[in-house]
Amino acid sequence: MIKKKFTGLILADIHCSGEGDDLPIKGKIARDLNDFFDRIKLDSIFRFRNQLKTAAETMQRLRGILDKYMDRAEQVFIAGDITDMGRDSEYKSVIEALADYDSRKISVVPGNHEYAQVYMLKKRRKLIRKFKNIFENFLPPTPEPSDSDLYYPYVKEIGGDFVVFGLDTGLAPLQGPSKGLFGPEQLDRLETLLDSGRFDGMHKIMLMHHDVSITDRDDLDYVHDRDRFVDILNIHNIGPQDRNITVICGHTHTEKFGGGNIGNINFIAGPYFCSRTGNDFLLFEINEDGIAARLNTNESAG
Ligand SMILES: [Fe+2]
Repeated sequence: MIKKKFTGLILADIHCSGEGDDLPIKGKIARDLNDFFDRIKLDSIFRFRNQLKTAAETMQRLRGILDKYMDRAEQVFIAGDITDMGRDSEYKSVIEALADYDSRKISVVPGNHEYAQVYMLKKRRKLIRKFKNIFENFLPPTPEPSDSDLYYPYVKEIGGDFVVFGLDTGLAPLQGPSKGLFGPEQLDRLETLLDSGRFDGMHKIMLMHHDVSITDRDDLDYVHDRDRFVDILNIHNIGPQDRNITVICGHTHTEKFGGGNIGNINFIAGPYFCSRTGNDFLLFEINEDGIAARLNTNESAG
């Protein structure tokens, strides 16, 4: 039994594309093709729909949601793909927007769009460091320096009986940019931390980008070592206590709440923040028994 209810806000797949009218690459391709069809005066049947927010719209919406919910939420979870291509202008806009809020109340992890896309392979080590340097104020110190490969999982105690484990699932670029991997060293460290007893009795929130509920190995979004991760959760989830693990992820741009086929845990995948259609954030509560409930109903980005 945890002492007090907990309220959290989830934002996933922000895909900030820079500034002004900049669009994430998928939206930009649609706009460029439409412009081309306009120029050659081709029939409107050839139009592509762009359902993504521009950079300005994305950042305005980000500030709007944080202004509205940050007092109520004890922690904001940003589940990766914060930028669209890991570019300086994209990070700059996000950091400018987040600078107005208390960084202790915001937890971040990287997604594949920060450094695991095919075109990033050559620069990957530099980009991993870049993410950690830019989000330095949001990332807790660990025994390992932040530029070490051994940085994740980080541990962030967020008050009450809650602790966040920030995991990096973007370590499998050679096996396909959309697929995820924790890597054996990261899972070893997670296991050691959980075995230590330091977090017994606390509710553990696992924050990551890729969706570990996907079980099909052929799925593009599959996490290669999900089975071992799930085993670790299951081993540390037994006993007479209440539900004590919540997994938060993003990546598939599809909201999921509950279930997640990982046993007795809360599983939440955040919706696509960058989309103009549908819900773009998720507010949730964990009650004294450790059970998560969704608080917000659908709210269009407008
Ligand atoms: Fe992703």
